[in-house]
Amino acid sequence: MEYLVQMHNMTMKFAGVVALDKVSFDLRPGEVHVLLGENGAGKSTLVKILSGINHPTEGEMFIGGTHFTHLTPAMSKDNKIAIIYQELSVIDELSIAENLHVGKLPTKRILGIPHVDYAKMNEHAKELMDKVGIRRSPGTLVQELSISEKQMVEIAKALAADARILIMDEPTSSLSVEETDNLFDIIRQLKADGIGIIYISHKLKEIKRIGDRVTVLKDGKYMGTRDVSDIEVEDLVPMMVGRQVQERFLRPTPPEAEPEVLFSVRNLTRRDRKARNISFDVYKGEILGLGGLIGAGRSEAMEGIFGVSPISEGEVYLHGRKLEITNPYSALKQGIAFVTENRRETGFFQNFEIWKNISVTTNLKKSRFGGFTGLTDEKQEREQATHYSEKLRTKCWGIDQMTVNLSGGNQQKVIVGKWLAVNSDVFIFDEPTKGIDVGAKSEIYQIMRDMVDEGKAVVMVSSDMTELLGVCDRIIVFSNGQITKTFMNEEATEEKILYAAVSAY
Ligand SMILES: Nc1ncnc2c1ncn2[C@@H]1O[C@H](COP(=O)(O)OP(=O)(O)OP(=O)(O)O)[C@@H](O)[C@H]1O
Ligand SMILES: [Mg+2]
Repeated sequence: MEYLVQMHNMTMKFAGVVALDKVSFDLRPGEVHVLLGENGAGKSTLVKILSGINHPTEGEMFIGGTHFTHLTPAMSKDNKIAIIYQELSVIDELSIAENLHVGKLPTKRILGIPHVDYAKMNEHAKELMDKVGIRRSPGTLVQELSISEKQMVEIAKALAADARILIMDEPTSSLSVEETDNLFDIIRQLKADGIGIIYISHKLKEIKRIGDRVTVLKDGKYMGTRDVSDIEVEDLVPMMVGRQVQERFLRPTPPEAEPEVLFSVRNLTRRDRKARNISFDVYKGEILGLGGLIGAGRSEAMEGIFGVSPISEGEVYLHGRKLEITNPYSALKQGIAFVTENRRETGFFQNFEIWKNISVTTNLKKSRFGGFTGLTDEKQEREQATHYSEKLRTKCWGIDQMTVNLSGGNQQKVIVGKWLAVNSDVFIFDEPTKGIDVGAKSEIYQIMRDMVDEGKAVVMVSSDMTELLGVCDRIIVFSNGQITKTFMNEEATEEKILYAAVSAY
């Protein structure tokens, strides 16, 4: 068989939006076909046709040679298509093994009555978990896992379904370097077994590493397909964005002779000890980077600072004044903003219009007694929302659009936007460019630089080495829950950061 999938002239219209406009796409056995495009280009919409969620307005497709105008989720499954969504769909309250067997629990009969065969289920789960490198017991509840582990469970789920066509929508967005290497090993094995993989990612470097062919979408239109061996990745960027963008970094500002300390953390230790003895200063006008491996305790330390998680010890100072942080709301009131890594789960209202989501934090901060008491100013809120959504190039028909209908990356932009809109002294960003396309990344860096130039301070947790080195004035490295090293930008290198990142394990 020549093709696993052939899609012709796929068109998908949502109320008022043409998400796909006559797009053609195909997939061969044993290849990785990368789908590339800016936030809102139509990538997820296209693959959701294959998973049976979207029924195209026009177009036809052949799956394994059979003709279809649309699929349902059941037909998709019957045709051995599995998808790992951008939004994780594991169930927190179930164990890893249960998640891997949802809908197909192994049973055994006891006194003639079917019971779940736990032993069999756990054994099968263990096999799948070994394949993707999850080192946990199969009975572990998924809520105890880190985001990256949850991601691996998603992948194991697809393997459990014995897929021939595997779709991965931004699978590495929360994976560490090792986990990504591990995933790529798994992908190579799957390829060798003749499985075709559709791979979506904003990490351009991955195309050369894992891709065989690449198709570019822009504003729902098909821009072309190339063999990866024939191209340089840079050549794809103008196809994607229709303009020249270099991964533009802003030169860090030279340090002042006697920089003014704006924000300090002293001896912070979390009650669960996931971050210990954390002390650092952030200077006025500085972007401070926090590097380290995923799970090194950076997000955990930030959660401790912001009052999300209880601490057993430690102080936080702003302008030399000690803060009393009891919960996130009090942190916000006292001048700290925190864009969490887990943006989908925290502080995001699916069924709010864009402008309302952007105003939420500002209103909370303004209100005098907590909650949403006090005056609001709709005109000003709408202006502010327009400003930030334009600045971040959010793809939407207007600020009255429901946030839930935006593409994954554009939802992220709304959440980043709502924190940018708060007038805080210190901004903590946890992986701010995760899932964000190349063009909008530069905008976010620019916004951070503008903020610190106005006398604020930025702390950025990032697992992207190029970003840390390209954007931050200083870099602090975490390893195993502690700080192991601090570098000035000009002395930092990838090797030195990595070395410090593994030094405490
Ligand atoms: N259910 C929906 N209702 C209305 N519009 C939608 C819906 N789903 C997607 N869209 C719109 O379709 C367009 C394409 O979205 P899609 O999610 O396919 O983008 P994407 O390429 O996956 O982007 P990202 O990189 O941000 O994930 C966007 O403009 C989005 O707002
Ligand atoms: Mg998407």
